[in-house]
Amino acid sequence: MQAQLLPRQVLDWVALLERLHDDDRPGLRAHYLALAAEDRRLRFGLQVTDEFIEKFVERVDFGRDVVFGVCSGSGRWLGIGHLVPGNGAAELGLSVLPEARGKGLGAAIFRFAVAHAARNGVRRLFMHFLTRNKAILSIARAARMAIESEAGESDAHLVVPPYPEFVRMLIAASDTGQRSGEKAASA
Ligand SMILES: CC(C)(COP(=O)(O)OP(=O)(O)OC[C@H]1O[C@@H](n2cnc3c(N)ncnc32)[C@H](O)[C@@H]1OP(=O)(O)O)[C@@H](O)C(=O)NCCC(=O)NCCS
Repeated sequence: MQAQLLPRQVLDWVALLERLHDDDRPGLRAHYLALAAEDRRLRFGLQVTDEFIEKFVERVDFGRDVVFGVCSGSGRWLGIGHLVPGNGAAELGLSVLPEARGKGLGAAIFRFAVAHAARNGVRRLFMHFLTRNKAILSIARAARMAIESEAGESDAHLVVPPYPEFVRMLIAASDTGQRSGEKAASA
């Protein structure tokens, strides 16, 4: 992932992200059930029924997986990231409710997942999605993920930098940003 300054809105969303626990299962279920048929297809890769979602949420292991998101004051989870650890890699699935889309929350969830993976020594992050999914493609491209597409489906892989390198990249990016900001201000 290339070091760069994040838009303010993405940073604000990152600050609101929190991890879900066992007692958040009903909230997680409500989030997925609120997704319309096409969004469910984009999130899970196939057409899924309410019953599928019920079973899926019942099986989520909040100790093993990292489920995190932004909850509105009224208890509605607006966006959810689900990081599932695998063999040397973690798979990320994410979803944002329609009312909160296009405002940087998806990008914030992705950033948090990369940082969490780096902090925990996970070396690869993986996403599977339908190739026509422009929003997720945009997130994957912005992170310079390696994308392989076949038969309408895509896999995106990211080599996660070790955590100290991750922090160094941010410091370097901030320095550059600050200098260019200063130049612009004095021009
Ligand atoms: C994919 C999803 C999580 C993105 O959430 P979001 O909060 O709207 O994302 P952001 O606002 O952070 O936007 C991320 C990028 O996608 C772009 N984007 C968002 N919606 C878009 C759309 N409908 N068409 C094209 N690009 C879109 C944004 O412009 C942004 O790109 P940029 O940084 O180059 O400007 C959301 O659309 C969603 O929940 N979709 C249904 C489930 C799904 O597809 N999950 C992903 C597969 S696991």
